[in-house]
Amino acid sequence: MRVDSINHWDIAAETYSEENNQGRNFHSQIYLAAVNELLGNVKGKRVLDAGCGDGFFSLELARKGALVKAVDGSDAMLNIAKRKHVHHNLQYYNMNLTRKLTFEDRFFDIVVANMLLMDIPEINSFVSEVARVLKKPGTFIFSVTHPCFFLSDWEENKNNIKVYKKIGNYLDERVEELNFWGKTLHYHRPLSRYIEAVEKAGMYVSSLREPVPSRESIELYPEQEYHYRIPSFLVMRAKSIEASDFT
Ligand SMILES: C[S@@+](CC[C@H](N)C(=O)[O-])C[C@H]1O[C@@H](n2cnc3c(N)ncnc32)[C@H](O)[C@@H]1O
Repeated sequence: MRVDSINHWDIAAETYSEENNQGRNFHSQIYLAAVNELLGNVKGKRVLDAGCGDGFFSLELARKGALVKAVDGSDAMLNIAKRKHVHHNLQYYNMNLTRKLTFEDRFFDIVVANMLLMDIPEINSFVSEVARVLKKPGTFIFSVTHPCFFLSDWEENKNNIKVYKKIGNYLDERVEELNFWGKTLHYHRPLSRYIEAVEKAGMYVSSLREPVPSRESIELYPEQEYHYRIPSFLVMRAKSIEASDFT
């Protein structure tokens, strides 16, 4: 049985791919800069791109010399990926990332998951599968919409400047419908739930970023300057290690 969020992504796929514009849209550039900084050199590394969507980032990794396996649960997304983003070091797979993955233990050097974890109803099983398929040491990097702030609306001052957000029901884990590219589901969970999932899987958090737009992009889009007040995204890097090294 397929989970609802994947059905929604099948319908949203074309619009998402067009608007994301190969990671060149304003919002994608914010978190991808931090993801790339934390990834470092991927040449010769085995990389799993989990929730690869239309595969634009998987292709970017393959072009940088990584050996990439890219996974998504949406046939529509994968069809776009196979049409637009092809490379001899890149293979696409359809898997539901809330289930056991069909990769061997300790196969990958790096697992990257951009904008996936807030789309899946339960993260513990996915993160423990990430730990299983990673070498030890290995690296898991994920980006999400910021769990503390994303669901709250901006409040404006009398000059229509976005100045603050009121945070309510932050600890209430829940699912909400979004409508950016057609209907999709957003599973809200507090920040600590992400860190707990990493801990439970026997990994540890090694870096955390709350990225903001570059100065150059704010010069192009000055109305987006409010991103410097409250972050919209969170990027985390976790390390897998031998159980005997975990204290
Ligand atoms: C917001 S998109 C991100 C796509 C891509 N990583 C990017 O940065 O553009 C979320 C992706 O996760 C996929 N997805 C959602 N739930 C999934 C699941 N349970 N198993 C596999 N893929 C899933 C969707 O099909 C969609 O392609």
